Amino acid sequence: MRSLTIAVVQFSPRFGRKEENLHRMEALVSGTRADIMVFPELCTTGYFFASRDEVAAVAEKPSGVSVEFFRVLAKRHDAVVVAGLAEADQGRLFNSCLVVVPEQEKALVYRKTHLFYKEKQCFDAGDTGFFVVHDAVRDVRIGPMVCYDWRFPESARVLTLLGADLIACPANLVTEAWHLVMPARAIENKVYVAVANRAGTETRAGEELVFKGSSAIYDWSGRTLRQARPHGDTVIVAEIHPAETRDKFFNPLNDVLRDRRPEFYAPLTTIRKP
Ligand code: ACM
Repeated sequence: MRSLTIAVVQFSPRFGRKEENLHRMEALVSGTRADIMVFPELCTTGYFFASRDEVAAVAEKPSGVSVEFFRVLAKRHDAVVVAGLAEADQGRLFNSCLVVVPEQEKALVYRKTHLFYKEKQCFDAGDTGFFVVHDAVRDVRIGPMVCYDWRFPESARVLTLLGADLIACPANLVTEAWHLVMPARAIENKVYVAVANRAGTETRAGEELVFKGSSAIYDWSGRTLRQARPHGDTVIVAEIHPAETRDKFFNPLNDVLRDRRPEFYAPLTTIRKP
């Protein structure tokens, strides 16, 4: 069964300094060999926007400099790149996540479904819904979600039902509760989970946010394969076996998707069946 190397990049952007952030990320991964690289949420610009105007000043179309940067990076490293950035689309602003597969012409864009705190004043709620990117070259199916999406078990479940082997979660997390939750999402869905969180602080409009670092890679049994420290920029790397997630059995008689009883999950009946 083919194994892949995944690199999770813990990186603290400087607010508003896009060019500098791109250069620093390029340097941070320059010696990294991986099939998949995951960068944090809003990693090109920083996070704590105070207004829509601030976002509009730096948000990019899919032809923008950051998208091009990640496309070049993906080609250079021969790796799928997953990275968060501020996206502009005809006056709308999204907290988005790029998935760049080096062999595919177009970068795919997931727009964060669940907005956190002041994001609600600065971004539009995502309208793409969840989707899974199939990379046939590396034989991996990647389901992106962004940060606060973690708090909704539906996010990981939908990605699993859509066929994800790996949930890739760019994040700017300011609590530690997710360490209890993400391994559970891995177990109950039998998927790998990779969280690229940022570290450091941002003070904007008189309010400070402290980001908790501790980026992590969990295997499909919820085991922590690698975890970064709470502080500092770093790259953690682990080997994964995506195909192992595709058969959802965990003993000869139980299977975490086939054993579901959707007819008894009335409020969730709009979710696609496996
Ligand atoms: C978050 O969604 N950035 C906590």
